Amino acid sequence: MDQMIPLSIPNFEGNEETYVLDAVREGWVSTGGAYIAEFENRLAGFLHTPAAAACQSGTSAIHLALLECGVRPGDSVIVPTLTFIAAVNPVRYQYANPIFMDCDESLCMDPAKLKRFCEEECEQRDGKLYHKKTQSEIKAVVVVHIFGNMADMERIMDVADEYGLRVIEDATEALGTYYLEGRYKGKYAGTIGDYGAYSFNGNKIITTGGGGAVVARDGAHLEHMKYLSTQAKDDPHFYVHHEVGYNYRMTNVQAAIGVAQLEKLPEFIERKQRNYALYRELLCDMELGRMFDFRAGTSSNKWFYAFELSGGRISAREAIKALAREKIQTRAIWELIHEQTPYREDTAYQIEKAAAYQKRIVNLPCSTQLTQRDICRVAEQMKRLNESVLKAGSMEQENRSDR
Ligand SMILES: Cc1ncc(COP(=O)(O)O)c(C=O)c1O
Repeated sequence: MDQMIPLSIPNFEGNEETYVLDAVREGWVSTGGAYIAEFENRLAGFLHTPAAAACQSGTSAIHLALLECGVRPGDSVIVPTLTFIAAVNPVRYQYANPIFMDCDESLCMDPAKLKRFCEEECEQRDGKLYHKKTQSEIKAVVVVHIFGNMADMERIMDVADEYGLRVIEDATEALGTYYLEGRYKGKYAGTIGDYGAYSFNGNKIITTGGGGAVVARDGAHLEHMKYLSTQAKDDPHFYVHHEVGYNYRMTNVQAAIGVAQLEKLPEFIERKQRNYALYRELLCDMELGRMFDFRAGTSSNKWFYAFELSGGRISAREAIKALAREKIQTRAIWELIHEQTPYREDTAYQIEKAAAYQKRIVNLPCSTQLTQRDICRVAEQMKRLNESVLKAGSMEQENRSDR
């Protein structure tokens, strides 16, 4: 009998057990210990950036970046509507207002709309940007690199520079994606804007169970975020604090897993890329739809494999159910955040493409353990789906011409 093919599961083929046992045996299980620094140094080395701060989650990493941008109650932050809600919630933790932006064909933030919004809906005073309607100061933009695809950072950075916006890249899904050409040639997702945030929760390309990291263009800001993440301790031995801190630091046990995972990261990326290429080869020329592409001029980590259904012949929900019957776990893309209960009253700017893509995407299994046989099994079922959809289409045609 065929086994279930899961959507995305962690891969612990490396030194995870050894390093975790070491951390436990040494008694360093909390927010001190050598694995944390080792994890930070290796991550920074991989990203070709001077330093990184390891934290409890991707969400806490984004929150620290917003704090560092000086986002305060009543300020505004531009965010995507098509993403996981963790990229937006920290705006609310600051009692600030998200302004929701549409995506382009990459599923990431649309730079043309971002520019139009700044041009038409905002005004600049004393070097600051204000939303005309609410008179709220817009401090930053959170750009999410969706499914491993690089957002159009050249154009987004141009808009941010023109309007004095801080840029936080949520590079959670794009760890290892970088530019092959252009102004940012050799630059990794997360290291282009002012801040970059990463998550290492269970379904990411590497995991620490739960965990995250933040990087910054400016070393002083990075140090300050590290300080905030450890309860803003001004003295390691005496309890002196000058700021409100957070318990956001990664633990040594998480970092021990993380070091082992980082050792495997280049191999995981290669596997993801190879498996994506095989899916593409097997799923070409289908009326049902197509494998979603990644931005030209970049090397993507190809974290998630989105299949875009076309022609409205079958809904994402129906496709997911049909595949589940064949023991293949797939998943829809997120519901739009500006339509979720906590955010319905917030500004959403000309959301069109995100609404269309939201209905059409099915994410296919993408774990690094996938075998060729697994991928062929998924492709076989997709082809069956394609045939049944075509058959239903031609029957409908016949019925119409009979009438
Ligand atoms: C784009 C994005 N941002 C943030 C997060 C949140 O990270 P965490 O679960 O580590 O808080 C996730 C996934 O969980 C994500 O996909």
